[in-house]
Amino acid sequence: MKTVLITGASSGIGKALVQYYANDNYQVFAFGRDTARLEQLKQLNTNITAVSCDLTDLSQLQQVSTTLPMFDLIILNAGNCEYIDDPVNFDAALFQRVMAANVQSVANCLSVWLKKIKPYGRVAINSSSAQFLPLPRAEAYGASKAALTYLARTLRIDLQPHNIFVSVIHPGFVATPLTAKNTFAMPSILTTEQAALAIVKGLNKGKDEINFPPVFIAIMKFLAFLPRPLWRKLALRML
Ligand SMILES: NC(=O)c1ccc[n+]([C@@H]2O[C@H](COP(=O)([O-])OP(=O)(O)OC[C@H]3O[C@@H](n4cnc5c(N)ncnc54)[C@H](OP(=O)(O)O)[C@@H]3O)[C@@H](O)[C@H]2O)c1
Repeated sequence: MKTVLITGASSGIGKALVQYYANDNYQVFAFGRDTARLEQLKQLNTNITAVSCDLTDLSQLQQVSTTLPMFDLIILNAGNCEYIDDPVNFDAALFQRVMAANVQSVANCLSVWLKKIKPYGRVAINSSSAQFLPLPRAEAYGASKAALTYLARTLRIDLQPHNIFVSVIHPGFVATPLTAKNTFAMPSILTTEQAALAIVKGLNKGKDEINFPPVFIAIMKFLAFLPRPLWRKLALRML
C-alpha cells in the first residue's frame, strides 16, 4: 500500500487531496490543527489517519512524528493568507504570522520528514500563482509564496543526488475558506476537487512545476513579462 502525508488536510485543497488519495487506496496521514474537522475527516475512510499539530511548533511536530512510517509522497500544503491593508503602518506581526505559517512551517516539516521519504519518493510544496507577479496587498502572502517557490527549486537540485524528487505547485484561485474572505473578483476559480485532480495529475506525471488552470497561468505569466511601470499602472487600478 502506498503512503502519502498531506498537511493542511482539515480544509480546502488539502482535504480534497486526502479524499482523493484515500479513495485511491493510499494510506493517508492527514495533518491539520482543528481536531473536530480532523475527526470528521477520519470518519470518511479507514485509510485516513488524522494528526493534529501546529506546524510552526517544531518540538510538537517532532513529537507527533516519531511513529510515522516511510512515505512515497509528502504534500506540504498548509498555509494561510493575510493582506497588508495599511502599508504605511506596516504590520510586522502580520508579516511574521504569514511567514511562520507558510514558510517556517515548511522548513520545520522538511527538517523532520525528508528522512521519511522512500528512495525515488517525492515532496510537493504548495506555493501559489501569486508568486508570479507583485499583487496589491500581498506583500506578506506573495513574499511567502515566492520564498516557497525558490526553496522548492533549490531543494530540487540538492535532493536529486539523494533520489528525492521535488514538485512545486502554483494554483490559481480555488474556492476554499482561505479565498472566501476575498472581496475582489477571482477569475477562473476552481472547486477543491478540480484543484486536487490537477495536482494529482501533475504529481503522477512527475512534473517539477504544477501550474493550473492553464489559461489563468498564461495570463499571469504574460502580465509578469510586461515592463514593471506598466504593470504598476494596471495593479493600481485593483486597489
Ligand atoms: N485557495 C486558493 O485559491 C489558493 C491558491 C493558491 C495557493 N493556495 C495555497 O493552498 C494551500 C491550502 O489553502 P486552502 O485554500 O485550501 O486554505 P484553507 O481551506 O484555509 O486550508 C488551510 C489549511 O492549512 C492548515 N494550517 C494553516 N496554518 C497551519 C499551521 N500553523 N499548522 C498546521 N496547519 C495549518 C489549516 O489547518 P486548520 O484549519 O486545522 O488550522 C487548513 O487545514 C495554502 O498553502 C494556500 O496558500 C490556495
